[in-house]
Amino acid sequence: MKIIEPCTLVIFGAAGNLSRRKLIPALFSLEQVGRLPDKLVLLACNVEQRRREDWVVEVCNILEPLYPQGIDQVALERFCARWHYHASAPGDDAAYQRLQQMIEEDEAFPANVVFYMAVRPTGVQEIIEKLGGAGLLKQKNGWRRVVIEKPFGYDLLSAQTLQASLYKHLDEPQIFRIDHYLGKGTVQNVMVFRFANILLEPLWNHHYIDHVQITHSETIGIEGRADYYDNSGALRDMIQSHLLQLLALVAMEPPVTMSAEHLRDEKVKVLQAIRPITQNSVNAHAFRGQYTNGTIDGKAVPGYLEEAGVPPDSSTETYAALKVFIDNWRWAGVPFYLRTGKRMADASSAICIRFKNPPQDLLRHTRQGPQRPNWIMLGIQPHDTMKMEMQVKVPGLDLHTRTISLDATYHKGSEANVDAYEGLLLDVMLGDQSLFLRIDEVEAAWRVVDPIIKVWAMERGFITSYPAGSAGPRGTYRLFDRDDQFWRKSLNLDGADSQPY
Ligand code: BG6
Repeated sequence: MKIIEPCTLVIFGAAGNLSRRKLIPALFSLEQVGRLPDKLVLLACNVEQRRREDWVVEVCNILEPLYPQGIDQVALERFCARWHYHASAPGDDAAYQRLQQMIEEDEAFPANVVFYMAVRPTGVQEIIEKLGGAGLLKQKNGWRRVVIEKPFGYDLLSAQTLQASLYKHLDEPQIFRIDHYLGKGTVQNVMVFRFANILLEPLWNHHYIDHVQITHSETIGIEGRADYYDNSGALRDMIQSHLLQLLALVAMEPPVTMSAEHLRDEKVKVLQAIRPITQNSVNAHAFRGQYTNGTIDGKAVPGYLEEAGVPPDSSTETYAALKVFIDNWRWAGVPFYLRTGKRMADASSAICIRFKNPPQDLLRHTRQGPQRPNWIMLGIQPHDTMKMEMQVKVPGLDLHTRTISLDATYHKGSEANVDAYEGLLLDVMLGDQSLFLRIDEVEAAWRVVDPIIKVWAMERGFITSYPAGSAGPRGTYRLFDRDDQFWRKSLNLDGADSQPY
């Protein structure tokens, strides 16, 4: 285990949604298992004036409901003792001066500092400017690192502008562009699955793979984030970042080593090899939809346009599906279908790889029903699973076949579930950028979605709708290349049956 140097973790937006839902719980989990360095100081920055004691009570209020069986009081006490609070309103220069004095003059704060931007994407640039202006990003006595959440910019140009402003104060090794999907165990397992098992490699190409589907569906809606989501939409929120990263891991060449640069070199090559979607071909490659009211888990839920803060004429997509081709030797002609949606019937994420049929259908006269292809499926959420569908003979006198599912659920009951943010926070403190995005990856991902963003921004008059709690909008089948390609309904055996979407 690598040793983490003493450091100060400053969280901007400490009282916000991301910090409450992800960062504070992840830090506390690390505290419980003794993975936080003894000399880690946590500094919450938020707009309101608060006393340290009040912030600590708030932290306890965030954590306690997560442990209905009772919280580890010893760990909680240790955790609370780490926290300090600093009021910092946007544009308040004096607050940054006070922050600078605090961090650089008060010995309680280790000189190595991580600044975590748990704020709205539009707020990041200003905070970096102010931190830079106050000299807080200079690595004089210790290192200084900045963590930036996705989306990085809202299109290619804005990402490049944001990057240029960061480079005024920061060097690339100081910038940690986080995509929490890369911190998920099953996502990392895609690499293990591919590169620690030789038997897959000969099959992992256009000779044997028919197409790849990457799906992320959620039952939740926008969770009070209308101000962010309505300017983002599903394409920016999920596809530009998380789903294109999953695609890169499935499709990349084996890296020279697992070092950050080698890994990211290979991912970026895949993203750059994605065939550009021209504005004329957007409708053949992309599909969007928006949820209307419906029922989820037996409860009535409002439509997107009825959510608080959403303009009544919004055409922001809450569902997006995309077909892309990777124009390189390995993947020539293989479609990759990506889709994501909010307020869908199920909450699940998976990568499903469909293989081609054998070159000769020797069993066509004896088989009952259509020829079934092989599938390999990596379930990411809600369960880490790996499944493979194969054909076997039905016992008996006739040569009938049926599909079986080899289910290699590899997560043992006793193995703890680790949230993606836990590992990623440790990586930032260790300075390991392997699971963070390099700017060229971000740019390449924006190049893929930018033409779609442009066309959708112009065509604001109509958006296909789907009822909350359904399988998404109808009509997405037009993305498929052939009639025998369709979205899998689930990872179960009957999930491969066609569905009219
Ligand atoms: C976030 C998006 O990045 O990922 C959210 O902004 C989305 O809209 C979330 O709900 C999904 O993450 P997970 O880990 O719950 O699949």
